[in-house]
Amino acid sequence: MGTAEKITELQNRRAAIEQGGGEAKIQKQHDENKLTARERILYFLDEGSFIEVDAFVKHRCTEFKMAETEAPAEGVITGYGTVDGRLVYVYAQDFTVIGGSLGEMHAKKICKIMDMAIKMGAPVIGMCDSGGARIQEGIASLAGFGEMFVRNTHASGVIPQINAIMGPCAGGASYSPALCDFIFMVDKTSQMFVTGPSVLSAVTGQKITMEELGGADAHTQNSGVAHFKAADDKDCLDKIKKLLSYLPANNLEEAPYINTNDEINRISQNLMAIVPDESNKAYDMKNVIAELVDNGDFFEVQEGFAKNIIVGFARMNGSTVGIIANQPMVMAGALDVDSADKAARFIRFCDSFNISLVTLTDVPGYFPGVEQEQNGIIRHGAKLLYAYSEATVPKVNVIVRKAYGGAYIAMCSKHLGADAVFAWPTAEIAVMGPDGAANIIFKDDIKNSSDPIATRQEKIQEYKDKFANPYEAAKYGFIDDIIEPDSTRPRIIAALEMLASKRESRPSKKHGNIPV
Ligand code: HXC
Repeated sequence: MGTAEKITELQNRRAAIEQGGGEAKIQKQHDENKLTARERILYFLDEGSFIEVDAFVKHRCTEFKMAETEAPAEGVITGYGTVDGRLVYVYAQDFTVIGGSLGEMHAKKICKIMDMAIKMGAPVIGMCDSGGARIQEGIASLAGFGEMFVRNTHASGVIPQINAIMGPCAGGASYSPALCDFIFMVDKTSQMFVTGPSVLSAVTGQKITMEELGGADAHTQNSGVAHFKAADDKDCLDKIKKLLSYLPANNLEEAPYINTNDEINRISQNLMAIVPDESNKAYDMKNVIAELVDNGDFFEVQEGFAKNIIVGFARMNGSTVGIIANQPMVMAGALDVDSADKAARFIRFCDSFNISLVTLTDVPGYFPGVEQEQNGIIRHGAKLLYAYSEATVPKVNVIVRKAYGGAYIAMCSKHLGADAVFAWPTAEIAVMGPDGAANIIFKDDIKNSSDPIATRQEKIQEYKDKFANPYEAAKYGFIDDIIEPDSTRPRIIAALEMLASKRESRPSKKHGNIPV
């Protein structure tokens, strides 16, 4: 064969591989409102930037007719390219090829990409659409998953790892996404579960659909496994690109600076109207966030889960910040098991990747209840304390209204190492709410009074006057300043600028032991 023929052979082989599982299977994929693996990668990356790696890899299985089974690209397309001009590594499982199932060589392709991503310090994005372990390959498939898990773990805190679930993701396969930083799910076309409906029905008799058990709603609202729900494949990939725009490529870089053209000294008079005068009245903390961040642009993480706390990315003076804020609209903003988990994980992500933390506090305490205690609010709440205490990135806290008891400490207090703590004049910082406090410390005065109701009100007011304000805390230096609400944005930005050169180190150790 001459060179020309050899080149033609190469091109023919490549063209065949690019056909994946063939027309009929591609059509089925499209009929289900899903893009193919290759279409997903091409849509995701900057035009013309995709460089494929390992297109010619083949499986080595001979069992169960596999010797005669062609698996173009081994059922997973891998490579690298750019998003907004920045290097990223990608893999996309091809459901049209043996159901995107993962065998020995399929796993090796993914692992090679992960190794390159770690070495080069660039994010890795996986697009999952797979029937799980390739049943014909047996234990070799399990080994492949294990190799991925160890890489996910080693990459954690070094490069951002993002998985998009764009089809089935069953059994142990769901653990590679679970070890990533962020999971996206496509509404109605993706499902994640360890044990599927048929096994559940056989073992426990419970009847449930795939969607109810492991669809996007189940995981973005109930379990908290997934962080984002997308309407379709393109929406999912667009959202991942937006997320990447906030993130550095690795733990040694700063997050990208983007000139947002929002005035850094912008005064927000609306803030005063958003937070009601009555301290027991709810308001939407998202409106406060929108006033403070550049152009009101807030990219919320886990929007549907543990809504009593809000976490997400924004920019202030063009730099990425991680926002953590109590949400008085839900459970009065009290902390519970899920919100502590949600915030702790987000804080640790930000700290790993040099993203400053801005906390907005309005918290009445921990949510009381037998269920909370039995579900381990002590263990889960401790994660939040641990995450804030461990974080060495700049930490700014604004106490908007309530900051009571243990929850005051937990929400980025000075005592956990906050670098700058501001309070609005409306702040109430005390060991517990005035009603509860009066019942305890003035118990005898109330009991012995000729008019217990009036005495109780008097004592509540006395406690309020003494403690339900920011001045007691300011007296101790626990807050740095009491600020006018309308100047919150300039004050946060000035604090972040002052903290840009922050250096803080901890005793050297192998790793800490966060309560999990
Ligand atoms: C081999 C598989 C496969 C698998 C699907 N296929 N899953 N081949 N191993 N795990 C093949 C099918 O045989 C079929 O081949 C093609 O992929 C498309 O699958 P369909 O069933 O036709 O598609 P659909 O009806 O959309 O159903 C998708 C599905 C179903 C729900 C994912 O295929 C399914 O239940 N698959 C098995 C899931 C599973 O139990 N996986 C193992 C989990 S255990 P043809 O030739 O007909 O087109 C596991 C352990 C990991 O993953 C542990 C790690 C620690």
